[in-house]
Amino acid sequence: MSGTFDVPLEKKSYRPDPSYRDQSWLGSYDEAYKRFLDDPEKFWADIAGELDWYRPWDAVREWELPYARWFTNAKLNITANCLDRHAASERRNKVALIWRGEDEEVERVLTYRQLHRKVMRFANALRDLGVRKGDTVCLYMPLVPEHIIALLACARIGAVHSIVYGGFGAAALNARIRDAGAKIVITADVGYRRGKRVALKTIVDEAVVNAPTVEKIVVLRRTSPSLELFSEMEVDFEEIMEAADPYCEPEVMDAEDPLFILYTSGTTGPPKGIVHTCAGYMVGTYYTTKYIFDMKDNDVHWCTADPGWITGHSYIVYGPLAAGATVLITEVVPDYPDPGIFWRIVEDFGVTIFYTAPTAIRMFMRFGEEWPQKCNLDSLRLIGSVGEPLNPEAFEWYYHTIGGARCPVLDTWWQTETGMHMITTTVGEKMKPGFAGRPIPGVVADVVDSEGASVAPGTGGLLVIKEPWPSMMRAVHNNDERYRKYWSTIDSYYTAGDLAVKDEDGYIMVLGRSDDIIIVAGHNLGTAEVESALVSHEAVAESAVIGKPDVMKGQAIKAFVILREGFKPSEKLKSELTYHVRMSIGPIAMPSEIDFVDSLPKTRSGKIMRRVLKAKELGIDPGDISTLEE
Ligand code: PRX
Repeated sequence: MSGTFDVPLEKKSYRPDPSYRDQSWLGSYDEAYKRFLDDPEKFWADIAGELDWYRPWDAVREWELPYARWFTNAKLNITANCLDRHAASERRNKVALIWRGEDEEVERVLTYRQLHRKVMRFANALRDLGVRKGDTVCLYMPLVPEHIIALLACARIGAVHSIVYGGFGAAALNARIRDAGAKIVITADVGYRRGKRVALKTIVDEAVVNAPTVEKIVVLRRTSPSLELFSEMEVDFEEIMEAADPYCEPEVMDAEDPLFILYTSGTTGPPKGIVHTCAGYMVGTYYTTKYIFDMKDNDVHWCTADPGWITGHSYIVYGPLAAGATVLITEVVPDYPDPGIFWRIVEDFGVTIFYTAPTAIRMFMRFGEEWPQKCNLDSLRLIGSVGEPLNPEAFEWYYHTIGGARCPVLDTWWQTETGMHMITTTVGEKMKPGFAGRPIPGVVADVVDSEGASVAPGTGGLLVIKEPWPSMMRAVHNNDERYRKYWSTIDSYYTAGDLAVKDEDGYIMVLGRSDDIIIVAGHNLGTAEVESALVSHEAVAESAVIGKPDVMKGQAIKAFVILREGFKPSEKLKSELTYHVRMSIGPIAMPSEIDFVDSLPKTRSGKIMRRVLKAKELGIDPGDISTLEE
């Protein structure tokens, strides 16, 4: 079998108290999975039936490889489900959003009714600026309630939001604004990070040069005295909101109308604009929040991601709000003012569901268990992980030190493209350190060889999804070829780009990427993206980057650089190049090592063989190098 390899598997497992499963929404995994297999359409229709629709669907699913339509012809608005449904029910005075600023005193709370009203006003403010259904709005904001308000306001009026993480630099922001054709950019004067101000608006100023579609910039002004707004183009967030009408009926959206675009790194070329649509995405994120995170009305849900990533879209905003949860958001980072801050927040707000990334867990391990031990973490009920493999050591620490050997650990595997959780160990089922778990009910996943044949337990291969699911991406913005590739690499299966292995019980361990994507501290970066940032520096003729294992970040970036004639290698030039990448893409893309070289390994057709560089760097066998030119 081609494309496979052997993996030694650990056998250890933990079983949570049976009450977890007995009291969960999902109940037994096997029974739920069987219910799904017996009648997949009924399975999804039953879940969709828990939500509000203006018009029901004619068909649950229409599938013409590789194009899917879910809940055909149904009409809905996702914000009617995230807000109106609760604001009109006994949840109206329930806390929807708790925000915690960097200063331990600063705290804001919004009930469902209050959040609903703010979203309606801001939605009208956007309409007053000329935003209409189908227009694209780019958000480049810190993690404050206004970020959530702006995002939901877009969805309310049918504008497509494209959120760009506030850590990206001007060139990355510009590329995303241009590709999406954004009409409006919403930003803030500053974000706060480790006691310092990060000037977001300044980056927007640079990013909108050569972005002709942008008509207005909306600025949330947080500092005093207020940042001055200059051009005709700039308006104040609060002012336009106050001037707008208070009531805004939700735009009636078709099931397959786009809801948002979110950029993710690709193996080659610029980042891909992943397009998600209204109904399927809503059903998928609602389902997984309620039945996988097992969300109950008295839960306090804290997902430590940023809304700029899919994790934030799905599990800070849409899923939890559709399920009527209390959501905690915060601008704080894990180690400022000290490494106890996250645990004080858990204790202060009685967080019950905590969802973070392995890189953060490894950072907490390094700080030491004295920090969480200073706090009472008894409120925690479930703890989750996402973004990269949760290695067994990190699992053990998380399970014992944070979860008190009591909380189920949900290591959730999924992607920007999948929109929702796909593989995890559901609440109350046996957990195996190192394994994400089984495909959740509703998902058909497998590990296969390069021809698509299932491989035996213990044999590594490619992770695929065999059937469409509601929250699957519908398109890559402006690039159908790249979309089709997901479903054609292995005929008729969705190829995730990850390597994985199954055990005898069908539990899946995700081993990492099979392509040139590097996951640094849980953030996806394409080698091509970093290389093109390097080459845009005047000193660089050519470059190749690889991922190298890193104890904290999972992977770190190493760059090989060929200098142009007239430039000499120096430590100063290394720092300059690092800074250049930081300014163009952002701090997450900074190489941690740079080597100046005279040549790069290439195929005869001129393609850089990063695999060879990597093998050399790590002292391993490079595999087949017959296509190597020199
Ligand atoms: O390689 C997998 C890794 O993150 C990739 C998806 O990245 P992104 O689209 O940025 O979404 C991240 C948040 C959903 C996957 O292809 N990945 C994500 N979760 C896990 C993971 N790898 C191992 N275990 C996970 N739980």
